[in-house]
Amino acid sequence: MMIKEPLYSIKESLYLRLGLIKDDNIRNFTEQALNYADEEFWTYPSSLSGRYHPKENNGIGGLVRHTIKTIDIAKGLGEFMLYGNTSRDITIAGAMLHDIKKGGDDWFNYPAIHGLLAYEWLKDLEYKGPIDELIKEDILNCVRYHMRQFSEPKSEAVRAVNATDTEQIVQIADHISSRKELSFLPGLELSDKIIKSYLR
Ligand SMILES: [Fe+2]
Repeated sequence: MMIKEPLYSIKESLYLRLGLIKDDNIRNFTEQALNYADEEFWTYPSSLSGRYHPKENNGIGGLVRHTIKTIDIAKGLGEFMLYGNTSRDITIAGAMLHDIKKGGDDWFNYPAIHGLLAYEWLKDLEYKGPIDELIKEDILNCVRYHMRQFSEPKSEAVRAVNATDTEQIVQIADHISSRKELSFLPGLELSDKIIKSYLR
């Protein structure tokens, strides 16, 4: 079944969600990372075999649809579990960037080390704007440890199962977003408030 995006392209739908991030520095950092994403990130499915993910995560743009679902779940969990806008922003940024290097550099397969690869890639990005280094590290750790016990190499998994609250939310949101039995279309309609906050 073809999945239609009635209002926005799937790429725009992801970019619009930058409006969920309240802090300018966190939003700008996240936006710049998205700008540098490999072309495959925007077009590839969430699972190369298509066997283990719900159908909306497959096909062209499937990885972005999965990312959007992860963000929307992380936003809801953040509002429930976290106190303060900064931690919520960190969680949304982490969810947005968690699979940005899912296929490594060649996108030939999806290695379980992709959390660590994304962490290193984000660390090497020359971000031009200001951002608190500790906040940046928290965002990068949400990305790095998002595979929890399946993180590789195994030394990563030891740390990933002792996750912080923000890291745990990205782990859980990613997990829910990839469950075959929890298939749903990402929310396509964003409130005017969110759209305006991004377009301002
Ligand atoms: Fe994911």
